[in-house]
Amino acid sequence: MGGNLMRTVEWDNGVVKMIDQRLLPGTFEIAEFTGYREVARAINEMYIRGAPAIGAAAGFGMALAAYQSDATDRAALLRDLGVAADVLRQARPTAVNLFWAVDRMLCVATDENLVYVDDVRDAILADAQSLADEDVEINQRMAAHGAALVRPGESILHHCNTGALATVDYGTALGVIRMAHEQGKRIHVFVDETRPRLQGARLTAWELKQLGVDFTLIADNAAGHYMRTGQVDICFVGSDRTAANGDVANKIGTYKLAVVAKENGIPFYPVVPTSTIDLDCPTGDDIPIEERDPEEVVGLTRDGMPIAPDGIKVGNPAFDVTPAKYVTGIVTENGVAYPPFELSLKKMVLGE
Ligand code: MRU
Repeated sequence: MGGNLMRTVEWDNGVVKMIDQRLLPGTFEIAEFTGYREVARAINEMYIRGAPAIGAAAGFGMALAAYQSDATDRAALLRDLGVAADVLRQARPTAVNLFWAVDRMLCVATDENLVYVDDVRDAILADAQSLADEDVEINQRMAAHGAALVRPGESILHHCNTGALATVDYGTALGVIRMAHEQGKRIHVFVDETRPRLQGARLTAWELKQLGVDFTLIADNAAGHYMRTGQVDICFVGSDRTAANGDVANKIGTYKLAVVAKENGIPFYPVVPTSTIDLDCPTGDDIPIEERDPEEVVGLTRDGMPIAPDGIKVGNPAFDVTPAKYVTGIVTENGVAYPPFELSLKKMVLGE
């Protein structure tokens, strides 16, 4: 975290602790969970959000499931873990880190070198903890690659929240911004408020304020104006799932930004850990897009009054897909991938 208060998600003696992001910036509160079903609910209700943070939470959720199970042999434990895996996978559909983390824990559970069920339980927890620790280290490596793309005095456009709160710590796109700031590059950030859940206004502005980064909060609709009038030099965003061809699923509104950026000759870089790259997804059209509760769109009030009439049709896709042709490069912990992405992403993920 900017203020190093705690990591976004932590394991503490059989309890999974999370910063309750629904309450920020008004209230800083830690929520505690002792069962995997509660962890799945916390992901679904967005106590915790952001692809890497969701992955880490799911890892700890699987550890809770392992310790909760009263299985006395491996087959029974695997059955219980299979049920927990299904529950966690259903929490949210788009961020691939959730599925990646659950599969990683299941893989540990089938390690034949572990003879006793208690050893399997301990190994799952140890790997969930490693996954969380690795996330922080990966973000710092990505940040170094991304910050090298930023020139002193540049103005950066950012969407949603990709900071410490969206990860275990440090952040993806916001990690790049943080490092460029710490390198003394005198940057400025335009922060999209990010309707409907306002992750930009509530979370990114909260983080950047603590870090002392110079920023301006803007309504989402203002981004095009700032880009066309030459006030944005470079865009950094996150991703919830990036397809093998370089199509990038990210928070709703990202696509529009990428198109306007290209039209205005502004480089557009998603910052994406390799755990978010899904080589099994050929294109962005294969990525499931989460549709969330209409209440997120119409539930806001203004001066105590509803912002829309009752009983109307509402669409609320949580993510969109930016086709690879709008993407300048994809920053990963292993370097920056450039087109053709089919080749460069494979190299970043598999080292081939
Ligand atoms: O719906 P959210 O808040 O979970 O969406 C988060 C994003 O879209 C982020 O940009 C994405 O997870 C990548 S940043 C870590």
